[in-house]
Amino acid sequence: MKKKYILAIETSCDETSIAIVDQDINVISHVTNTQIEFFKEIGGVVPEMASRMHVDNILYVYDQCLNEAEMTIDEIDAIAVTVGPGLNGSLLIGVNFAKTLSLLHHKKLIGVNHLHGHIHALDIEHDVTYPHMSLIVSGGHTELIYMQTASSYQKIGGTHDDAAGECFDKIARILNVGYPGGPVIDKMAKKGKNTYDLPFPMNDKSLDFSFSGIKTAAYNINNQLLMKNEVLRKNDFACSFQSKVVEILLTKLKAATELYDVKSISIVGGVSANSELKAKAFELFPQLMIPNIKYCTDNGAMIGAAAWIKYNNNEFLDPFSVDANPNLKVGE
Ligand code: KG4
Ligand code: ZN
Repeated sequence: MKKKYILAIETSCDETSIAIVDQDINVISHVTNTQIEFFKEIGGVVPEMASRMHVDNILYVYDQCLNEAEMTIDEIDAIAVTVGPGLNGSLLIGVNFAKTLSLLHHKKLIGVNHLHGHIHALDIEHDVTYPHMSLIVSGGHTELIYMQTASSYQKIGGTHDDAAGECFDKIARILNVGYPGGPVIDKMAKKGKNTYDLPFPMNDKSLDFSFSGIKTAAYNINNQLLMKNEVLRKNDFACSFQSKVVEILLTKLKAATELYDVKSISIVGGVSANSELKAKAFELFPQLMIPNIKYCTDNGAMIGAAAWIKYNNNEFLDPFSVDANPNLKVGE
């Protein structure tokens, strides 16, 4: 039988990414244009600028994706697109592009929750067994999701304030070491020692997280040193901060797996690229899966992988009524 293909579009934040993924979740081609270099200069994403850059880039990314696959749009069976959560303007560029392709070329249209994408990034290189426990750790989200099957998502814990990645980015701003904070702090931590004492907010029996206390403690330590004309030992601070975040994430994930009987566990999203988190998590959970680093941060291939579940369940959208939903939730 002829193979089927989905062309999947991701524009929820500052990456314009399009992939072609076949029905066996092989990534046939995958093209990403990242705006990170531009936003590094500014120190964070400016939503209006991100949307404009998606407009400038999306057609080139689309053409290149089809060229790399040596395919034409006629060979594609469905168009998938991230509909939320994310930045409204950024999401709208992808959604309108997908709508147009769907109407112009008479293709089925699939709307994908960005967080389902992060979870199903696993399907590209792993055989996931269910029930499954996933810890999503990205720039905008920190959530514990219990899954009975590949298409059932139950949120059992989440952050009360900042997301883990957001916290990495804010600490990097205090240390004045650039954006995005995660990769820089990861490198600095390797050169430092865990010498600063930071709090573990919500260190209780709940499966919820809080990171704003760590951020406040960091501001306070920095300000007290400045008043004494002393300087923060940046590498030691990065190391202490990262160790605390890793301890918090793994304590809560362990508690979740003790409460729910699962066959496999995953950590997904941008922060799962963190080297200390990975090393300690694999020691703690032998059945752990983490997507390949190129599928951890935002990308079109993960949207394609998640879209196949909807395709197989016949869950399609009407291109005339589909809209972006920046506040879309998972499993609530
Ligand atoms: O999943 P993602 O690409 O975008 C969102 O959906 O938010 O995650 C981006 C986040 C950023 O906050 C970035 O600092 C963090 O992932 N990140 C890391 C690392 N690489 C990226 N955090 C810690 N360690 C890393 N190596
Ligand atoms: Zn993401």
